[in-house]
Amino acid sequence: MGKRLWLLLVVLVLGYGATMAIGFKGEKPKSGEGDVKQEWFLLPNSESVIKTDAGEMRVVRSHGGRIFEKLLHIGFIKMEPRTLFLPLYLDSNLILFIHAGQATVGLIYKDHMVERELKNGDVYQIPAGSTFYILNTEESQRLHIICSIDPSESLNMGTFQPFFIGEGTYPTSVLAGFGSETLSTAFNVSASKVSGILRKQQEGPIVYLTHSHGSSIWTKFLLLEQQDRLKHVKRMHKAPKSYNIYKKSPDFKNNYGWRTEVDGSEYKPLKNAGIGIFLVNLTAGSMLAPHLNPRATEYSIVLRGSGRVQVVYPNGTLAMDTYAKEGDMFWVPRYFPFCQIASKSEPFKFLGFTTSSHKNRPQFLVGANSLLHTLNNLELADAFGVSKKRIRRLINAQHESVILPLSSLTDDDDKKNKVFAF
Ligand SMILES: *[C@@H]1O[C@H](CO)[C@@H](O)[C@H](O)[C@H]1NC(C)=O
Ligand SMILES: *[C@@H]1O[C@H](CO)[C@@H](O)[C@H](O)[C@H]1NC(C)=O
Ligand SMILES: *[C@@H]1O[C@H](CO)[C@@H](O)[C@H](O)[C@H]1NC(C)=O
Repeated sequence: MGKRLWLLLVVLVLGYGATMAIGFKGEKPKSGEGDVKQEWFLLPNSESVIKTDAGEMRVVRSHGGRIFEKLLHIGFIKMEPRTLFLPLYLDSNLILFIHAGQATVGLIYKDHMVERELKNGDVYQIPAGSTFYILNTEESQRLHIICSIDPSESLNMGTFQPFFIGEGTYPTSVLAGFGSETLSTAFNVSASKVSGILRKQQEGPIVYLTHSHGSSIWTKFLLLEQQDRLKHVKRMHKAPKSYNIYKKSPDFKNNYGWRTEVDGSEYKPLKNAGIGIFLVNLTAGSMLAPHLNPRATEYSIVLRGSGRVQVVYPNGTLAMDTYAKEGDMFWVPRYFPFCQIASKSEPFKFLGFTTSSHKNRPQFLVGANSLLHTLNNLELADAFGVSKKRIRRLINAQHESVILPLSSLTDDDDKKNKVFAF
């Protein structure tokens, strides 16, 4: 057992080395000392993978998780009002989270095209290999989607591989690869008709619906009102349901913040995908107590505010202590103890994807519900080599659990160590 653990640790360390070698674009505030390890668990900046006038998709590739856990990339889709993300399928599973605006997602489901309206806080799965499109039909509101990209079924051709269906040269339709003779036979139309159609779409993967170039069959089709559009498709099949994370009452809530988690038992598609999703909102200065995830690695995106993230190695040394602000991302491997602390001037709200759809049951190391309380007092005293009375005084001083208030004691620490003055 001990030997295996060591091996794991060695693999882990080598893995981190590889991650470091890729290099981060360090834009975070640097501290005078100990900044070497600060960014190991911060994910690198996002890269643009699709960009047109009508919208953009950015992706943060993660390299770290694959050692003993599923790897997740994180995607950000921004679409201007009245735009369409052209039909495509991916070699990766997507879990969409609507961060702002509204979306109509069309999906081939059980051989029928179905549509689902999604709004702020909705979670929705798009399985690998399923053809889908995304519409923003709002007149003035931008659509902002955050998604997990799970490449475990992927072809390993880059971060993920899109296959566009639509007729065009940019993006190039997968159909184009067959050549006009094959297509002409397959479609039973003349070769000139085929090439005429394949040449039309040139505006990129995300297009405006209102453009005069709407000669594209897809744009025309999608410009129809939904009722009309769905007349053309079978209505018998209901689209898979979405799940609104804001409608669920938090799993934990006190005066200092809340935490909500959605797992596969609450939203079935997550079970199929093997992904969990959670949301945490800490009030200014509050701390999500030191804890660990016994079942999953988590990938978090700061949605609002800022705070400090601390991650600890199995051997009890600090692995990362850094400041994360809106848009920053960090990941924490399974079993690693960590905590998040909101900055004193603003709340700290973050969204996370986990690599398991089972109930996660984070284990808290500190606080009124902590492991230390659960363990037998006597054994604990022995473990720390102190008297029972002292240990009881230590673990009983904190009356709150899970999310802890700002302590007056931390002020002194901040003055001593100005690195994280925010
Ligand atoms: C192909 O089109 C022609 C003319 O429209 C039609 O007569 C023929 O039945 C079609 N063949 C197939 C296999 O659909
Ligand atoms: C998060 O917390 C802040 C401050 O406590 C509060 O203003 C905000 O409304 C909360 N957000 C949500 C979605 O509950
Ligand atoms: C603890 O583990 C980390 C990573 O495995 C290593 O870099 C560090 O040197 C270790 N510290 C001690 C004190 O063993």
